[in-house]
Amino acid sequence: NNEGIILAIETSCDETSVAVVRGGNHIASNVISSQIEVHERFGGVVPEIASRKHVEVITLMIEQALEESGYGLGDVSAVAVTQGPGLVGALLVGIVAAKSLAMALDVPLIGTHHIAGHIYANQLVHELEYPCMALVVSGGHTELVLLESEGSFRMIGRTRDDAVGEAYDKVARALKFPYPGGPHIDKLAMEAERAITLPRAWLEAGSYDFSFSGLKSAVLAVINQTGMKGEELDKAALARGFQESVIEVLVEKALRAVREFGAKQLLLCGGVAANRGLREALTARCVKESVPLLVPPHRLCTDNAAMIGAAAYLKWKRGEFTPLDMKAEPNFSL
Ligand code: KG4
Ligand code: ZN
Repeated sequence: NNEGIILAIETSCDETSVAVVRGGNHIASNVISSQIEVHERFGGVVPEIASRKHVEVITLMIEQALEESGYGLGDVSAVAVTQGPGLVGALLVGIVAAKSLAMALDVPLIGTHHIAGHIYANQLVHELEYPCMALVVSGGHTELVLLESEGSFRMIGRTRDDAVGEAYDKVARALKFPYPGGPHIDKLAMEAERAITLPRAWLEAGSYDFSFSGLKSAVLAVINQTGMKGEELDKAALARGFQESVIEVLVEKALRAVREFGAKQLLLCGGVAANRGLREALTARCVKESVPLLVPPHRLCTDNAAMIGAAAYLKWKRGEFTPLDMKAEPNFSL
């Protein structure tokens, strides 16, 4: 059929998700099974366990996504799957399922980049105008991506060490919050009455790259020094200082990139888009500089298969399909 009904699968990390997306922007279903509880006690995602959990639920999730969508297997125009980046064992589970389905249904397979998915999650709720700039912030990524036209990606900056969400989770862990700790730090920071000033990692003049490991070390140093002096740690002030440093650098670099490349919109994507401080600061700056800011609803910001379906649709339209012998690409470049 020619409506572009895409069955999409995402298993790159700790969420098993299957979606049915029609025409690139209509979500017929988007089922997500999170493994957070399983990984929580290890303080982070354990790759071996992630793969095993994906295997346990993938077939069920496919059935459920189809049932909720109201479509049958015969309606599917193509099967899309996250090809990378991600955990190789986790990616493989989705890829094997997608290949089998594509082969059995005799429809094209579309290998999709995970970041393209995060970016095109915006297309599920907004009209994109090119050129636009995407700030992708999640547990695994921190990237500034320029989209000069539909489906063209140019990475202009990225983290040189920790991803933003990863830095949040490490700081949260040091403050004894459960995994994933990002939301706890956000909440604490928003309630704080003062901030402990921490360094900003601007890197070389003009660079759009990011670095968060120095900031994380600065946080750990404050915790250690306070402990050694036997003083009580003001966790909220520390959380706020950390959050302010992260946000200032993200906002400055994103807006500078928007100006330099003449972007018509700024897209905020990835799980850290849920951060209240970041959203408030970006919104304020975008209003001031008259730049439209697009943010998908929370459920579409975190890992989900609908975003993969949205990105894959662009390839489907152009007839760009992926051979059935494709491999998982843990370090896939955009
Ligand atoms: O996109 P996502 O669900 O998974 C990845 O692809 O990584 O992002 C999860 C990350 C975690 O590191 C989590 O701590 C962080 O997003 N996160 C937050 C907030 N909500 C989620 N970080 C800071 N503030 C938040 N409110
Ligand atoms: Zn992600």
